[in-house]
Amino acid sequence: MNKLLVANWKMNKNTLECIEFFNEFNSKYSAKRDAWVSPQAIHLSLAIHEGAKKNVKCGSQNASDHTSGAYTGELSPKNLKELGAHFTLLGHSERRQYFNETSKLLNSKVKTALQEGLKVIYCVGETLPERESNQTLSIVGDQIHQGLNDITDAHEDNLIVAYEPVWAIGTGKTASPTQAQQVHAFIRAELKKKFPSFGDKVRLLYGGSVKPDNVEELLGQKDIDGGLVGGASLKAKDFLALCGDK
Ligand code: PGA
Repeated sequence: MNKLLVANWKMNKNTLECIEFFNEFNSKYSAKRDAWVSPQAIHLSLAIHEGAKKNVKCGSQNASDHTSGAYTGELSPKNLKELGAHFTLLGHSERRQYFNETSKLLNSKVKTALQEGLKVIYCVGETLPERESNQTLSIVGDQIHQGLNDITDAHEDNLIVAYEPVWAIGTGKTASPTQAQQVHAFIRAELKKKFPSFGDKVRLLYGGSVKPDNVEELLGQKDIDGGLVGGASLKAKDFLALCGDK
């Protein structure tokens, strides 16, 4: 399977900047690697339209655990799917940290999004104090087990997991390829135990200061199937380089 690079634009870019990105990206993207883009929800419709010209799939950065109703400000996974969204990120560390999303709530969001036919990129990762006190694997293991409870084989093609050490996000500090591979191998083993029929097929992305100059080494690791990229995905030129198009 192709390596997968997912752009997480967070709360960045205005409408014109979105259009400029796709104009430049689409002119050079050769689909050596799969490219997905996650803009702000207000630009999703535009991004879906522009991305479709080069089979670049787009998705949201969050989705509700409800499909409709009195939930002011929330994003319905059902309506995201109807709009043409391909996936949603769930459990990004910024959502866990600033919006108090727990793995228990995320489990409910993951199940609802999968039921509505969205692919889910479920994010996990430890903070610096957790790493320094040797808790990385237990924290990541808990996030996997709690967040991915009760997922059936019917969704085997739609689950993706992203390992993003919180201390490496937006800091310029990348986990070394060896550090990243070690956690990815652990996640792979946990997924195989949890989902014996498809755990070995789940795409595992690494995120945290992925850049053109470290991407090849990271993607060269056995259990790293792609990257979830913030800062370096904002410029079309850099995201093209990550996708193997210089
Ligand atoms: P970064 O962000 O690439 O800027 O470190 C990654 C992410 O938050 O998904």
